[in-house]
Amino acid sequence: MSTTEQTGAARIDHVVVPGTFDPVTLGHMDVISRTRKLFPCVTVAVAASVNKRGRGTAFTLEERVEMLRQALAEEGLSDVEVLPFTGLLVDFAREQGAGAVVKGLRAMTDFEYELQQADLNYRLDSELESIFVMSAPQYGYISSSVVRQIASLGSDVSTFVPPNVVEALRHRFS
Ligand code: PNS
Repeated sequence: MSTTEQTGAARIDHVVVPGTFDPVTLGHMDVISRTRKLFPCVTVAVAASVNKRGRGTAFTLEERVEMLRQALAEEGLSDVEVLPFTGLLVDFAREQGAGAVVKGLRAMTDFEYELQQADLNYRLDSELESIFVMSAPQYGYISSSVVRQIASLGSDVSTFVPPNVVEALRHRFS
């Protein structure tokens, strides 16, 4: 008898990696690629229009989706689907048939925010699992907002983001 038959729990093959990705960083890419090693089917879900502080994004939803698709293709991860979403993450995950949400955790400072989101998502859909992947140490302090700030001041961000994003930032802030 398999473990699944013993517990009655369905195995999770499809997961969603959500985020604002404004823009995608090498830290995000690391989390997505490690998630792809763990699960056969990965969908990156790009949230519509507002960031954590309720402000608009630097890049449009279409631009953020396209940057991710290109960066993943360049890393040989074309089988990772990238889709935009509006509304609740739990609804999007259900529509996609995904069983879990995967997010990256950097320093302890991420923990409270992520715990709050995982708790909310659990209250909205207790069938949807929240899974956390620890960031590789070299990406621990990279964030989209730090990248935007450095790029807007005209500095090099090539150690923080994929090459196509370096170009996109150069256009945005030149
Ligand atoms: O990159 P971020 O800002 O950490 O991503 C946050 C995101 C997009 C995953 C989160 O804001 C989200 O899930 N937004 C969709 C709206 C929603 O479902 N809210 C309730 C749970 S927090």
